Order: sequence, then C-alpha cells, then structure tokens
Amino acid sequence: MGLLQEKLSKFRLPQMYMEKGVYPYFREIDSHQDTEVIMDGKKVLMFGSNSYMGLTYDQRIIDAAIAATRKYGTGCAGSRLLNGTLDIHVQLEKELAEFIGKDEALCFSTGFTVNEGVIPQLVGRGDYIICDDRDHASIVDGRRLTFATQLKYKHNDMEALEKELQKCEPDAIKLIVVDSVFSMEGDLANLPEIIRLKKKYNATVYVDEAHGVGVFGRNGRGVCDHFGLTDEVDIIMGTFSKSLASIGGFVAADKDIINWLRHNARSYIFQASSTPAATAAAIEALHILKTEPERQEKLWKITNYALKRFRECGFEIGDTESPIIPLYVRDTDKTFLVTKMAFDEGVFINPVIPPACAPQDTLVRFALMATHTKEQVDYAIDKLLKCFKELEIIK
Ligand SMILES: Cc1ncc(COP(=O)(O)O)c(C=O)c1O
Repeated sequence: MGLLQEKLSKFRLPQMYMEKGVYPYFREIDSHQDTEVIMDGKKVLMFGSNSYMGLTYDQRIIDAAIAATRKYGTGCAGSRLLNGTLDIHVQLEKELAEFIGKDEALCFSTGFTVNEGVIPQLVGRGDYIICDDRDHASIVDGRRLTFATQLKYKHNDMEALEKELQKCEPDAIKLIVVDSVFSMEGDLANLPEIIRLKKKYNATVYVDEAHGVGVFGRNGRGVCDHFGLTDEVDIIMGTFSKSLASIGGFVAADKDIINWLRHNARSYIFQASSTPAATAAAIEALHILKTEPERQEKLWKITNYALKRFRECGFEIGDTESPIIPLYVRDTDKTFLVTKMAFDEGVFINPVIPPACAPQDTLVRFALMATHTKEQVDYAIDKLLKCFKELEIIK
C-alpha cells in the first residue's frame, strides 16, 4: 500500500457514523425542489435549502433555462477571456452592476470561485488581509492563496478588528473581508462599524452577500443596501445558488477594480464560463426579484413567525437576524442524532459541525424560503421540539 493510501485508509469517521445509522450527508432528493421534496420514497419538509426566494422550481426560470439551452447549447467550452463569452453573460453582468449599485460586475461559474479567484488578486506581499473568524470556507481559501499578511479577528468583535488594524503598516493595503450574513449562524456583520474603522485606518472592504442578496435591502439588493452602505463598501460579491435559483457568482466594484480582475482573477480567465442555462436562469430570477417584492415580504413574515416560535419553545438560536436559524446542540453526536430523528419525522435540516463551526458550537441549521407556510413551520417546530427534548438538548 502506498503511503498516501495507508494514511487515507485510516479515515473512518464517516463509516463510524454510517454504522451508527446517523450519517447525515449526501441524502438524495428525487423530486422537484420546493418546500416539500421526496427522499427515500417519502415526503420530507425541506428546511435545509438556501433557495430563500423559493424560486428553484419557478416555471418562468425553467423556461428561460430551456430556451437558452436551445439557443446556445449545453456548455461554453471555454473561459470568458477566450471563446466562452455569450451575450447573456454580458447582459447579466450589466444588470447585476445596476442592481447592486456598482460601476461594473463580473460573473463567475460559481460563488466559491469568486472568492477563491478574486481575493488573492486584491492583496499581495506587503499588504494585509483581515477576516472574521467565521468567514465562509471560500473566503478562507481565497485568503490562503494570497501572499499578504493574514490576520483574523473574533467573530463580529469590532474591538478585535480594530486591534488587528492597529498592527498594520499605515501605508499598506488592508483588505477587510466579511460575510454580510453569516451562513451558519444567520447573524449580520456589523457593517456600520466596519465602515467606520475602514475610514479611520484607510482600509478596503470586501463583502460576501451570498446570503444577503434576495433577503435584505431594497428588492433584495443585500445587506450593504439595507445599511445604506453600498458606496462605502469597495467590493461586493454574491452567488446565484441561493436566492437566484441557479449556480454561479459575481463580483461588483468600481471600473478600475473590475478592469484589474477581468484580466487577472484566475478563476475568471482560466475557468470555463457558466452554462447558458445557469446564466439565463439567473437573469430571469433577477427580474423576478425586481418585480415581485412580495416574495421578500413573505420570506420575512414567515421568518419572524419562526423566530418567535423557536424562542417561545426554548430553543437556543443565538443572534440570528435572518431566515437562517441555528438551533444550537453543542454536541457532535447529538447533532447527527437529532438530524436523523427529525428526518424520520419528515423534517430535513442540516447538521453543522467543525470546521463549519467551533467544536462547542455544533448546531442544526433551519432555513426558510418565501414559499414555506405557517402550517409547515408549525409542524417542523413541533417535531424538532419533541426530538430536542428526547435528547435532552432542551430540558
Ligand atoms: C457566504 C458564502 N460565500 C460563498 C459561497 C459559495 O457560493 P456557491 O456555493 O454558490 O459557489 C457560499 C456557499 O455556500 C457561502 O455561503
């Protein structure tokens, strides 16, 4: 056995949980995706999706994806730089720049590769990158690819951020990178304070709006818009895999930043461009966001209802201010067990364990869509309460 094989043959953690019958990953959906899905031949209420607007099975978006496939084909067989640019890629970039409120935007094939490709091109040797310690894995990977000095501060602790800024050479570029909505905890970055510190220390701010677009701001323009800080935030990225019912991602900024990234971001120039179907779907979803504000209203109505009920029932839900509701378990085995018990009761939730959270902060993540009904939420909360009590997570 080779050394690598020998090392990897010892990785048996997944098998251990499989043997216990609580392995929670790669569960298959074999129906269309909405608030109710079919898994293992039975109906399950879906509270694990990031499709906040509930648009994943919208007929208009499906039609747009089919029409684009018929017109352009199934793939682009090249990167944006060379042969992979379609007129609909350019259309989407223009519409996104206008929607987000920046000069220009670039579209990538996934949101992950926006962070991975853009961040390392913004800072280099002699510069600094400063991240919240709960930033998304794609930001962490982007940070790891830079030659800049890498600094981190305790989640949302603005005094800790200021201390990191004080460590930096005043004349060096200092890039602060944060999620606008933290994807597991559902709380918001303290953008007003981050912007105050940006101005005090002459820093640059990059905000990941993966979970902000659709949910916050005017017609879903995101958390930067919600705080009225779009102009102060230098770089905004987002993804199509959540509210925009597709796959892909974007970065929006001023003309000079975009001109630099267009010719240097490696995942933009060396990665095949996004499919016609994914691009057309995102365009259609964006149009729906702009013209159907009632979806955002519905999402907030059902979110506020669920938040109130979870609190009344005694769940520990942390500081969430969004449709992402963390139900803290604080024990990895119980997190898997409660995920399985809820699934058996017909409720799909996602387990969150390290490295997606700190070891003492394991949780199950309950996420809402605009299309969830009060009855579905009531059913899920009743079942979850039963499971949490059985495992003595709630006494
Ligand atoms: C905060 C954040 N940023 C970036 C990404 C990557 O986006 P995508 O999955 O669309 O590639 C995600 C995905 O989960 C995310 O939660």
